[in-house]
Amino acid sequence: MRKAIIAGNWKMNKTMAETKAMITELAPLVSGADCDVVLCVPFTDLAAAKKAARGTNIKIGAENVHWAEKGAFTGEVSAAMLKELKVDYVIIGHSERRQYFGETDETVNKRVQAALAAKLKPIVCVGETETEREEGLTEKVLEKQLIEGLKGFKSKDFDKIVIAYEPVWAIGTGKTATAKDANETIGYIRKVLAKKFHKSIAEKTRIQYGGSMNTKNCKELMAEEEIDGGLIGGASLKAEDFAFIVNYNK
Ligand code: PGA
Repeated sequence: MRKAIIAGNWKMNKTMAETKAMITELAPLVSGADCDVVLCVPFTDLAAAKKAARGTNIKIGAENVHWAEKGAFTGEVSAAMLKELKVDYVIIGHSERRQYFGETDETVNKRVQAALAAKLKPIVCVGETETEREEGLTEKVLEKQLIEGLKGFKSKDFDKIVIAYEPVWAIGTGKTATAKDANETIGYIRKVLAKKFHKSIAEKTRIQYGGSMNTKNCKELMAEEEIDGGLIGGASLKAEDFAFIVNYNK
């Protein structure tokens, strides 16, 4: 049985003071959750988030990590820096990073390697754009992102790696993949994992859905067999909404 994981992706939102306020409000609302609860926050909020989440079941994640140990990479943050803050998770290859910041499957692979070496748990994002979907390329695009992004990882690495299937056209748009479609596509991702990696990896890897997941559609999405959780953007910014999603089975 795979344990569900509901993770917030705050993107470029919230100051330190807002972080503290939100986590203080959220903690009692999610203390009884059956799933893993994670908030991925901007680098500048990590220390405040860790402090506010101390003694709670809320785990904290970053939104990116560089692959190099150190050096001349202005604006980047290393895995060791995150580890020292005792961050647990890190989002890698989000479509906004791919779209606006030149992230490729190759850099995703390098970032995942660095994260795993530092014992951070990577949340690796994959997903097709609207044009790719319309052109019938969804499966091809996902297969390439998975094979190249996760190239070289061993079975034990997949105890830590979480995959987030986020159709780009559903992110921040209010358009969600139907629960059936999302389930089917995540089923396809498992097929690729089974074929290119190993059947046991396909079975054990946790795969989230992301893209306009909210209080209205979370129960339906989470009821699907292949969907092991959600990566939640907009709806993770309000404690009440995020708690509702975390408590989807209550
Ligand atoms: P959204 O974002 O929930 O606001 O669509 C999801 C994401 O980008 O991870």
